[in-house]
Amino acid sequence: MLSLAVGISILLVALVVRDAYYKRNYRLPPGPPGLPLLGNLLQLPRKLWYRKLTIWSEQYGPFYTFWIGSQPYVVCSSVKVAADVLDGMSAVTSDRPALIKAREFYFRESMMIWLDRTLLWRRMRRAAHTSLNVRFTLRFTQIQAQDAAYLTLGLLQHPEKPFHEHVRRFSGSVIARALYGGDAVPLLGLDPSKRIEQLMDEVMQKCLPQNSMVDMMPFLKPLIQRVKRLRKQADDWFEAMDQEGSRLYDIAFVTDSSEATTIVHDINTRLQKHGLTKHEAVWAALSMFMAGQETTHSALRFFGLAMLHHPDVMETAQSQLDAVCGGRAPTFQDRECLPYIDAIVKETLRWRPALPLGLPHTASEDFEYQGYVIRKGTTIIDHIWSQTRDSFIYSNPEVFDPSRFLDNSGRLRPNTPGTHLDQLGFGHGRRVCPGRDFAIDSMFIACAYMLWAFRFEWPVDEYCRSVTRGMDDMWDSALIVTPKRFQVVLKARFERLEEQLLAGMTA
Ligand code: HEM
Repeated sequence: MLSLAVGISILLVALVVRDAYYKRNYRLPPGPPGLPLLGNLLQLPRKLWYRKLTIWSEQYGPFYTFWIGSQPYVVCSSVKVAADVLDGMSAVTSDRPALIKAREFYFRESMMIWLDRTLLWRRMRRAAHTSLNVRFTLRFTQIQAQDAAYLTLGLLQHPEKPFHEHVRRFSGSVIARALYGGDAVPLLGLDPSKRIEQLMDEVMQKCLPQNSMVDMMPFLKPLIQRVKRLRKQADDWFEAMDQEGSRLYDIAFVTDSSEATTIVHDINTRLQKHGLTKHEAVWAALSMFMAGQETTHSALRFFGLAMLHHPDVMETAQSQLDAVCGGRAPTFQDRECLPYIDAIVKETLRWRPALPLGLPHTASEDFEYQGYVIRKGTTIIDHIWSQTRDSFIYSNPEVFDPSRFLDNSGRLRPNTPGTHLDQLGFGHGRRVCPGRDFAIDSMFIACAYMLWAFRFEWPVDEYCRSVTRGMDDMWDSALIVTPKRFQVVLKARFERLEEQLLAGMTA
């Protein structure tokens, strides 16, 4: 017994010495001191990591390091550092972290979002870009406008259903229809994309670093590879997702309501050109669905919260909508004359980014920055939350102020060339979100419709007190942050609203 205890103590001391030597030999930017072996693990909260990382940014500057075990994480917290490291050096900063459980066991290296910059990633990315570039995305505006009318009709007809469920349906519906075709997801009843959502929720929870034994102890990997029983959950998950993705892929058809084809149709007719197998194409489509739905849903929830907290902004938007559209519903053709709505969308994505820490990047080679050496395999955090509060760029960053994106005559300011300051919420470099134009179009038309149709108000309780939700009351499901549930009373602004919305859906 004694010799076992001595043996364990010697092993621990050896590990601590090795850990200290290993960490000292890195020339990484400084950061919060941590414990031997564990690094800063115990200082990180279970949820909303971005808050702790923001505090550290204030203490250690815009480029700092923290450790989880023996894995270093460098954080890019200012616009300049993110642009230098993630855009300027994207040739070596565009891999993803080696999350063994998620990537190897659950996704079996088929999910575009979590692939390194491999040949398969390049092919999937090209396919996504072909279908989602600014020009192609315009083909989906008809679906998006119909779905925005349907969203608004749903909010009018079913006030008993919470706001977040309405915007979630909308976000899933637009992306599912763009990918796979078909009709809008119904307001009530069966949602054909529900199964994917459930599977996605499941994987998010199971693959959190704190729930993954194999990521903490990678030496377990060969054992799990060999023993089928140990990977049963992951195998079952992959089979279920693969089956669902293939089913949707196979029934995808050219939408009959416009000249627009579906993204799946587009990829499928170019399989050879893109160099993808059908299995890979199924997963490219699934990746777009998974990346696009929850993010758009979260952004629209933050939009609702912003309108409740800022009635002045809502009223300014409504004056512009009334001047341009009068009593008829807004359309994409009105967009030029509705810069304030686009500014609200940009400000929502800046004020409360759905992915406050983006998606993690990883160094594929050693590189130097500001005299520090970042080794291959280091995780690089795109701290979007801090960047969108960078006081060199945004004055009063905590204030929700769409006019920061407008010039003196109320037109949208052109973006500073070579930057994406008005789109920081979509990440950086070669991994920047390929669905950003689609997402912004969906948000533009949904926000325009909701603002045109309704006055947003807090509900009141039996003592006539407003039932509110704070601007900082949030929760996260691994990476995506959303406001906690809130109630909203939507007061129709027109008498014949329902009629107008029904007309918008058939337009
Ligand atoms: C408001 C909505 C959205 C937000 C805030 C958002 C944000 C992001 C961010 C921050 C990233 C990570 C970029 C990086 O690694 O630097 C990303 C990646 C991605 N997004 Fe989006 N996104 C949104 C909507 C969409 C939509 C609608 C689609 C598809 C139609 C989409 C498809 C993707 C894909 C496929 C990736 C992975 C790219 C890669 O790893 O190469 N996103 N998104």
